[in-house]
Amino acid sequence: MNRTFYSIDEARLLARKRVPRIMFDYVDGAAGDEQSVALNRSELDKIRLQPRVLVNVESRTAAHRIFDQDYKLPFGIAPMGMCNLTWPKADQLLAEAAVRHGIPLGLSTMASTSLESIASIAAENTWFQLYVSQSLDLAVELVERAKRSGYKTLILTVDVPQVAPRRRELRHGFKTPFKMGIPQFVDFALHPRWSLTSLITGVPELANFNQKSSHGTFDRTASRGAVDLDFVRRLRDLWPGKLIIKGVMSAVDSLMIKNTGADAIYVSNHGGRQLDSAPAAVSMLPIIRQAVGKDYPLIFDSGVRGGEGIIKALASGASFVMLGRPFMYAIGANGARGLDNLINILSSEINVTLAQLGKISISQLDHNCLL
Ligand SMILES: Cc1cc2nc3c(=O)[nH]c(=O)nc-3n(C[C@H](O)[C@H](O)[C@H](O)COP(=O)(O)O)c2cc1C
Repeated sequence: MNRTFYSIDEARLLARKRVPRIMFDYVDGAAGDEQSVALNRSELDKIRLQPRVLVNVESRTAAHRIFDQDYKLPFGIAPMGMCNLTWPKADQLLAEAAVRHGIPLGLSTMASTSLESIASIAAENTWFQLYVSQSLDLAVELVERAKRSGYKTLILTVDVPQVAPRRRELRHGFKTPFKMGIPQFVDFALHPRWSLTSLITGVPELANFNQKSSHGTFDRTASRGAVDLDFVRRLRDLWPGKLIIKGVMSAVDSLMIKNTGADAIYVSNHGGRQLDSAPAAVSMLPIIRQAVGKDYPLIFDSGVRGGEGIIKALASGASFVMLGRPFMYAIGANGARGLDNLINILSSEINVTLAQLGKISISQLDHNCLL
């Protein structure tokens, strides 16, 4: 079967066929009535770009620099937990693709591959993402491990004080650690390729917690509400590298965070997976940009589904753009080849869009590109 796709929507449909429904819905689903996830996309779609002509755009580049590091493209892979449930070895495939294409990878606290293993593939490209569960000391221990493993960039995610109810997960009985019942068994039997590969590679675990710790372990359903500004300040003192605070949707919060000495704010509504009544993440970008000033780094995600979306976010105030689900759809559609397919589509769309806006580099994008 030909598994080449030409858009992220096509990749999603291919993944939907190959991945068991429980796992597909874990990735594709969102909080509540799933209004916020739809809004992320529709608000991005509403933004129009200003075409320009008669500018020599023969020599242009989509390479972009952030945090003193050069990337080949202005986007990266957002941190996602339990990726190996979507497809066996997904974390490894993502890390290898990040290296191949010169883009950053966010590695989740809840990854199914340990931060030490990913460091051996892609330490230079990987930004470690921290969740703080009930033990602040357990979080600090992870930070120390990340430091020892050679990571230079840390993302602290703060928009999950508690995991929001996601109805598709509830309906399918999706839980960690994974429990098998009759509905799941039938679902797997209908997806033999996924099931056989998973049988060979083993049931994915929260691999960062396989090592014994005196501070307990990570419970996905437990409160993560203890993170406050004091913890951010503590982290600032502990972490010598770049510190990004993820999941920020307000100008007031952004200013408080900037004052702690964090290096960047990551504007995101978690891809609509947390507060269903939240505004579209892209609607907050210009407001937060205005609050933090023109040079402060802003990372952005939530709802981007193509190269023009990346350009729109950059022109709306983002310094760098991340995408989440699209990478999982691409793996589900066609494994490592699917990832190359996706990154090539995004790269070529960015390149052509730059030309149509009369721009030769990402740093030339600003609000003047918007209508
Ligand atoms: C399956 C899945 C797992 C996720 N896990 C995490 C996580 O562990 N840590 C985190 O900070 N964000 C997590 N996110 C949120 C993403 O980092 C990102 O904010 C979101 O996917 C962006 O929206 P998009 O999917 O529309 O691109 C997850 C998202 C998905 C789809």
